[in-house]
Amino acid sequence: MIVSTSHYARIGQTIVLIYAFFAILYTTHHLFLSPLRACLSMMLDLSPTGHPNSSSVSNILNSFKRPNYINSESQASAHFWDLHTTRSNQSSWLAEIQSELILSKAFANSMHPSKIVPFFYRASENIDTEDITVTTLITSNRFPVFARLVEQYRGPISVAIHVNNNSSDYHALLDSIHALYTSTPNMARFVDVHLIMDPFDRQFNTWRNIARLFARTDFVMMLDIDFAICTDFRSAIRANRVVMDKLREGHSAFVIPAFEYVKAEQGSNNLNFPTDKTSLVSAVKDGHLDMFHASWEVGHNSTDYPRYYAAPPGEVYKVTRYQAAYEPYIVFKKEGPPWCDERFVGYGGNKAACLFEMYLSGISYYVLSDHFIVHQNHLYEEKIRKDERKFNKKIYADFKEETCLRYFKNYYDLGILNTPRGHNVQKECAKLRGFPQLAQQILR
Ligand SMILES: *[C@@H]1O[C@H](CO)[C@@H](O)[C@H](O)[C@H]1NC(C)=O
Ligand SMILES: *[C@@H]1O[C@H](CO)[C@@H](O)[C@H](O)[C@H]1NC(C)=O
Ligand SMILES: *[C@@H]1O[C@H](CO)[C@@H](O)[C@H](O)[C@H]1NC(C)=O
Ligand SMILES: *[C@@H]1O[C@H](CO)[C@@H](O)[C@H](O)[C@H]1NC(C)=O
Ligand SMILES: *[C@@H]1O[C@H](CO)[C@@H](O)[C@H](O)[C@H]1NC(C)=O
Repeated sequence: MIVSTSHYARIGQTIVLIYAFFAILYTTHHLFLSPLRACLSMMLDLSPTGHPNSSSVSNILNSFKRPNYINSESQASAHFWDLHTTRSNQSSWLAEIQSELILSKAFANSMHPSKIVPFFYRASENIDTEDITVTTLITSNRFPVFARLVEQYRGPISVAIHVNNNSSDYHALLDSIHALYTSTPNMARFVDVHLIMDPFDRQFNTWRNIARLFARTDFVMMLDIDFAICTDFRSAIRANRVVMDKLREGHSAFVIPAFEYVKAEQGSNNLNFPTDKTSLVSAVKDGHLDMFHASWEVGHNSTDYPRYYAAPPGEVYKVTRYQAAYEPYIVFKKEGPPWCDERFVGYGGNKAACLFEMYLSGISYYVLSDHFIVHQNHLYEEKIRKDERKFNKKIYADFKEETCLRYFKNYYDLGILNTPRGHNVQKECAKLRGFPQLAQQILR
């Protein structure tokens, strides 16, 4: 009982928070923007005096793009829940809650204190809500790769950038973000930038959730920045009625299979990457390309690469051999599917945890057999990765058990355990040691 109540509460909170957020965005422009400005000026105040280029921070302030849509008074009236109002006598449930407080609750499982600045830069392009936003995170050493992604995708992108403010050169980082954003016209057209300012590195799942929360379309693709988009899956999905219907319904996610070059040096120049499946398959046959992270097979092999190679054009097939380490790159509905668990900090298990909870919630994975992405090789921070993996392995083991219990109990109480929605939780959780016995107790 406790288990299911807390689960409902969590879903409820998420919905309320998302709603509250957009209510704020739509209804208050000065009240929303002023905390952002306050935050930015606070950064200025905190800056070491005599910073050689502090004027460029004001440049960033000046170039901050005010979201157009929050200027519209007509849209404001459509919302009944004005969290920022002080007109408290209009209705007993009107409440004043600062956006900072809502953000801190929205990311309550993340490390604190942290400051989130949504829409630090806002894209100018008009966006169709049925479009697919690429959501991703970047660190300063990946800026050049990001610029390439923007040129390749030419569609909406929502990016979370972490600024570590426990370092004396964070103003330089802000400057380089500014330089990045102004480096090509397509940045300003397509890219929304959301900043996270705190001393905590590698809170990947928090950053993923931020990029998704502020995406302005109904559908998102969760992508890692190192991948080159090789085929136009965006147009293909939007033109496919069956796929679009499944996306809208919210119980399906679509996998874009991932590849990498066997010899790292071949993977450094994306201009040589294949752009159609025939060339991809022949590069695989020639031994140049292989599935992504072949040495960590479980990460991607549920995609079933042999089946992918053999699939006729246009085929979309279901992933039938899911396992808990699977971490493909997927397109899915922004609202509805579970969010990434923010307790995962650092390398190891973080993305797999997102995919695991989605799967348990009843989402089926389908592979788009004409499409693919290719990894652009780079050096990893091996020592850090090794330590954090050990740590996250333990968290993941507990997470699986806890998530299984929550969904199993919840779906049992809702009476959907023995429907297609409940299929995944039953099948996957039966693999956990001791779970069948636990399940018997729940069902009793
Ligand atoms: C300061 O920043 C601006 C804009 O980012 C840049 O054009 C300029 O070269 C920088 N100046 C110094 C001294 O770094
Ligand atoms: C309620 O608020 C309105 C302004 O929105 C004000 O005109 C009115 O006097 C207030 N009523 C009371 C009882 O405070
Ligand atoms: C970094 O940002 C957080 C969140 O705003 C703040 O609490 C903290 O004091 C900042 N740290 C430094 C060193 O500026
Ligand atoms: C902040 O920086 C100081 C000095 O480099 C370091 O000792 C401390 O651990 C850092 N804090 C965090 C949260 O990274
Ligand atoms: C993936 O790899 C694991 C471990 O080698 C294996 O047990 C599993 O059958 C493979 N799955 C697929 C779909 O190839």
